[in-house]
Amino acid sequence: MRTVEVTEELQAYIDSLLPQRDPVLTRMEEEAQRENIPIVSPHEGALLSLLVRIAGARRVLELGSATGYSGIWLLRGTSAGELTTFEVDHKRAERARANFSEAGLGKQATVLEQDAVGGLQKLETRFDACFIDLLNSFSSEDVTLRVAELCLERLDSGALMMADNALRQGEVIKPKNQQARNVASYNQWVARHPRLESLVIPIRDGLSVARVKE
Ligand SMILES: C[S@@+](CC[C@H](N)C(=O)[O-])C[C@H]1O[C@@H](n2cnc3c(N)ncnc32)[C@H](O)[C@@H]1O
Repeated sequence: MRTVEVTEELQAYIDSLLPQRDPVLTRMEEEAQRENIPIVSPHEGALLSLLVRIAGARRVLELGSATGYSGIWLLRGTSAGELTTFEVDHKRAERARANFSEAGLGKQATVLEQDAVGGLQKLETRFDACFIDLLNSFSSEDVTLRVAELCLERLDSGALMMADNALRQGEVIKPKNQQARNVASYNQWVARHPRLESLVIPIRDGLSVARVKE
């Protein structure tokens, strides 16, 4: 059987099954809509949270905080865990810090206001889960795979490695731009990596989910 087509009616049905969001997440969703901030959907947020909880992850790394929406979902999947998240845009980093505080997670979230590529190289911390939400932004496939390796080097056995936009609205099949080429090369790297077991979940724009083998 093929993956079901998510019509507007079916989308409304699955939306009705989503957990209720608190006022902070609801406000962030409205702001993202109004200001065109590219955040994950609530479904994806709920999935990220659930995966983190199932994996028992406590130390989470995120590349691409925006205003902290996915970070809140990730942190809420942990039991009093910690999030280290990179955001290069000053205003977004400030907003992310304020949102984490308002969500009661201010002490658990560290927003590093720097380029994730350079910042990752200096980061010595180890993590139980990693969420990459800026594959589109890298200048080449080489940079994309270097970042992927840097993330994996910081993950222990059993850790989760996840990345958003794994389908690029279907562009990954025949990539015609740098963004799609980055995502396609990331997907190939994950699928073939001997340390990873993985799949792509066709939720929203696709979520790549991998687990670091024992
Ligand atoms: C898709 S958004 C992140 C959305 C967020 N994860 C969420 O769902 O709430 C990607 C973010 O990465 C940031 N960004 C892009 N390139 C970056 C880089 N090299 N280092 C750090 N942040 C970067 C952008 O400014 C943008 O806010």
